[in-house]
Amino acid sequence: MKKYLSVLLLIGLLISSCDKGSQESVSTLEKDIQELMANMSIEDKIGQMQQVFDGFYPNDDDLIKAVREGKVGSFLNVMGADRISELQRIALEESKHGIPLLFGRDVIHGYRTIFPIPLAMASSWEPELIEKSMRISSVEASSMGINWTFAPMIDVTWDPRWGRIAESCGEDPYLASVYASAMVKGIQGDLNDQTAVAACAKHFVGYGMSEAGRDYNTTYITEPLLRNVHLRPFEAAKDAGALTFMSAFNDLNGVPTSGNEFTLKTILRDEWGFDGTVVSDWASIEEMISHGYAANRKHAAEIAVNAGVDMEMATTTYAENLKVLVEEGKVSEEVINERVANILRVKMKLGLFTKPVSQHVSVDTILAPSHLKVAREMARKSIVLLKNESNTLPLPKDIRSLAVVGPLANAPHNQMGTWVFDGNGDDSVTPKVAIENLLGKRMNFVAGMEYSRDKSTAGFKEAINAARKSDAILFFAGEESCLSGEANSRGIIDFPGVQKELLIELKKTGKPLVLVVMAGRPLGIGDEINMADAVLYAWHGGTMAGPALADLVFGDYSPSGKLPVTFVKGAGQIPFYYYRKNGGRPSSPEDFTHIDDIPRNSKQLSLGFKTMHLDYGIAPLLPFGYGLTYTEFQYSNFSMSDAKLKANGTLTVSADVRNSGNYEAEEIVQLYVRDRVGSITRPIKELKGFEKVHLKPGNLRKVTFLIEPEDLAFFNGNDYVIEPGDFDVWIGPNSDEGLQGEFSLE
Ligand code: GLC
Repeated sequence: MKKYLSVLLLIGLLISSCDKGSQESVSTLEKDIQELMANMSIEDKIGQMQQVFDGFYPNDDDLIKAVREGKVGSFLNVMGADRISELQRIALEESKHGIPLLFGRDVIHGYRTIFPIPLAMASSWEPELIEKSMRISSVEASSMGINWTFAPMIDVTWDPRWGRIAESCGEDPYLASVYASAMVKGIQGDLNDQTAVAACAKHFVGYGMSEAGRDYNTTYITEPLLRNVHLRPFEAAKDAGALTFMSAFNDLNGVPTSGNEFTLKTILRDEWGFDGTVVSDWASIEEMISHGYAANRKHAAEIAVNAGVDMEMATTTYAENLKVLVEEGKVSEEVINERVANILRVKMKLGLFTKPVSQHVSVDTILAPSHLKVAREMARKSIVLLKNESNTLPLPKDIRSLAVVGPLANAPHNQMGTWVFDGNGDDSVTPKVAIENLLGKRMNFVAGMEYSRDKSTAGFKEAINAARKSDAILFFAGEESCLSGEANSRGIIDFPGVQKELLIELKKTGKPLVLVVMAGRPLGIGDEINMADAVLYAWHGGTMAGPALADLVFGDYSPSGKLPVTFVKGAGQIPFYYYRKNGGRPSSPEDFTHIDDIPRNSKQLSLGFKTMHLDYGIAPLLPFGYGLTYTEFQYSNFSMSDAKLKANGTLTVSADVRNSGNYEAEEIVQLYVRDRVGSITRPIKELKGFEKVHLKPGNLRKVTFLIEPEDLAFFNGNDYVIEPGDFDVWIGPNSDEGLQGEFSLE
């Protein structure tokens, strides 16, 4: 016993010394910051608060002069490892205070090796692989001198009309939080390492609720919704150590997020204790004039700096006005010092004062085979099998002939998706090339259309002929990458162009018809899904989308992806999210009479008096969490450790999952909970956990989840509460089905 105690004592001493050590390192850091700032003039401090894009200065002499004079704290989109290294050397060796620069760039889902768009990666439900992908992005970006990326984008959204859903992690706050943490860790890695890149949690906050899915539009979000949904991924990013945040373009309940003291100060700084840098989103400070919230540039600068934006991106309201605002007493020197300390803290945490500046583009870094291998695995696991009638898929590798048709079968740039600043379509392996490598002349490729919006049917005949002489058809349809991403919202979320018409013609050939969709959003393609025998939703899968699709089409890998966002039947159903409220007159998918079936002379006011649409009913096209596989998974033997969860206890919930089919495959087992009665109305379901299991045919795995009272906490408009009461719990394959139990929280 004595020995045990002495060991405990030793551990205690070690922890306290480590603790002291980490405390010492923090205080050293803070001391360094204060010492540095003590020698900085107000002009020097304001210089740190300016991020300029390359080309901001008329020529390089002016740019270098500005660096030497300490007028720039960060650059955006400066390209070239040598150029960046030289600018960093000048900042460190030739500027007044030797303060290094942050070099920012949007490396959202890959630098040169492009991974699937974030919404696609979110379909993998594999945070470890996402972290690995983001790490590779940073290894490639940092080899080019980039040390700050504006990712992860973790805006929760319910609206597929919004172009930036492509960049998001989907509709669920729990899943988005898991991804936020993984992405931050992947992007930043070890801060002492040369490959560390500062992450930027964006867009803080609520941007994904832009009204009508129209980008840059206004947002109204109640505080319960803000705290129970939209803030959660950002808190997870902060907890994961994100060094920076970015404000947003939207006004939130009337206050632009770049001038919003409630979000930027009360929540981010006071409640969460975030001590990193907040950067504006492009001209979002200046845009407060257009919002009608700032009278002019000087007023905009005053609002933003007092609210909590440390660094101004692209525009120069700070550089123009802060000195005068301090002299006029409208902005205190303390505020300026706080802003600049946040910036210097990030630069010091990133080791920029001490790391060597020379970046060498190691040829084996950019597009390294190991990077492409991970990109292919990420793309494979991002694809969702939506339908597989009579096991159309996988196709036999020895198929006699296969028609590969459609405007996205051989679209090397478009398959990379949105936000691919440094991606190059020439690096892409398209589905057409990947399949040709496998089948050679047994593949009959005819695009049939030039591009997804093509209205011409001139190519149909050749495509149909190719289909007629083949044993099966792969039809690659969807959206060009320019139809999603920033500023690319769509009011109609159908297939653009005449893709549906071509699908109809291909269907008439009677051949097995596999629809492969490449898009940046969930599309309202119920009819097209009904027409096809099998459907793979491949999103925009990045550089290696082609080989990844071939792996699935020919059965080298069984699809495992699950939807991170609800698929609606059409734009009229938006907003739709699975964690909706029950309402006072809930309806179920069964109890509705379709608009076409309402008796012709019906005099009844309504056949239901329940919440639904006469044409859409209440069910979406496909539910959150949905995805098929080549095998079958059976759920059985639901069990709980107790029917009661004590206030300081834990509850385990389990179910057996068995691979009862013929393929080795992965299943994403999901845990949902419903709080039946709350001090505010509660969602009909909330995702509280998931586990991805890999099972050979015939194998079984008991999947167990732990539920603690904290998992049931929510913000009720006044406070975060954990309320005793009755709960439902499900373990299942998606948000619509599963084995159910119930428990009460004491
Ligand atoms: C853009 C985007 C933001 C991006 C920034 C820099 O407008 O909203 O996500 O990081 O500007 O390119």
